Amino acid sequence: MTTTAAPALPSWQTVPEDLPAAIRQIKRALRARIEASGRSVHDVFAVVERRIADRAAEIDADRKRGESVWPVIDYTDIADGSVTPEQLDKLKRRGCLVVRGHFDRDQALAWDTDIVSYVERNRFFENYTGPGDDFFGSVGSKPEIYPVFWSGAQMQARQSDRMTRVQSFLNSLWSNESEGVRWFDPDRDAMYPDRIRRRPPGVDSRGLGTHCDPGTLDLWMTREYQRTFRHLFDGTVEDYDPWDAAHRTTGPQYPGTTMCSAFRTFQGWTALSDMDHDQGVLHTVPIPEAMAYLMLRPLLDDVPDDDMCGVTVNQVFPADRKWHAPLLDTLTGIPDIRAGDSVWWHCDMIHSIAPVTDQKGWGNVMYIPAAPWCPRNERYADRVREAFLTGSSPGDFPEEHYERTWPDRFGPDQLNETGRRSMDLA
Ligand SMILES: [Fe+2]
Repeated sequence: MTTTAAPALPSWQTVPEDLPAAIRQIKRALRARIEASGRSVHDVFAVVERRIADRAAEIDADRKRGESVWPVIDYTDIADGSVTPEQLDKLKRRGCLVVRGHFDRDQALAWDTDIVSYVERNRFFENYTGPGDDFFGSVGSKPEIYPVFWSGAQMQARQSDRMTRVQSFLNSLWSNESEGVRWFDPDRDAMYPDRIRRRPPGVDSRGLGTHCDPGTLDLWMTREYQRTFRHLFDGTVEDYDPWDAAHRTTGPQYPGTTMCSAFRTFQGWTALSDMDHDQGVLHTVPIPEAMAYLMLRPLLDDVPDDDMCGVTVNQVFPADRKWHAPLLDTLTGIPDIRAGDSVWWHCDMIHSIAPVTDQKGWGNVMYIPAAPWCPRNERYADRVREAFLTGSSPGDFPEEHYERTWPDRFGPDQLNETGRRSMDLA
């Protein structure tokens, strides 16, 4: 292999004005950079395809043995530090996890009831004016997604010791130090307030197609992400590690309706109702390295020169049959969930929500991710703190601000040390 010339990549720290031109330019530059290593784009992509095929075969073998593809770990084992090396290995291969008994079932059900009385006391349903974005748009008078961020239930869960333990455990799966930089602090999370979903029995839902959330064109175009994915672009694809946080926690993000300003090691939610595996639940492509496939696929010859396999700004990053079929064959739903369990998936991973007809039982969750303290999350924490103090919708969400006038939202005097630290409040 020759490594004589490694042409620098053009980068755009904000959204380029002429998107098709920028896409053509970056694709040309990425191909040239890969080829300068002495390997062709096809050689490099073939390595990724083999890695995905190996993982897919493991997933298939799990299925045939009747084993859960999704790792399941008891909260008590995480709290006691008794998770086995075999469990850890499976967790890193699959990139997703169910934490059984993260909270007591009764506690979770009580939180669900508390949220209902919180929104009813504050006449939310009477005042609700429809979805503030169309991403989770629903038909009918009551929304499925409540743009509610500051209930006692959500805040108690976010600042609880049990949540902190699981977040630290998940953060520590990543390597967070390299090149003389500590990219994040695994034992301190930044609060990432998100909404509530309450989906009632009897609903029909079309679900949500396969997509991923870490970014859009910025993944190829900003200097920091080009460094994050450096091994994909410089001929050392074998060294690509989806658990390496280097350069992920400092750079800018292109704005968009579904963007997440925070760096999350894992996306996650906590169940507030029991949910059967066939009732319109979350699915993932349980392969963290799938990101390498998503990043390199647009560089192959069959994709038009100004197309990134459908990825563009201000829209969700799609994963579809046309370009990503081998990935989608591994799509796997969560097992049956009980109230109080939590569900987690690596921030890069492709996921979807299955459709459901005449849903049995409720489908209630509160979204709480793992977002360790780092420069990017520290920047967002300023906006979170301001939103908390005023009862506003946080910066990443539509400006609905329902809770500003609600007198019984969670207050600063109710914060514990974890809660204060998570928003950098003295
Ligand atoms: Fe998503």
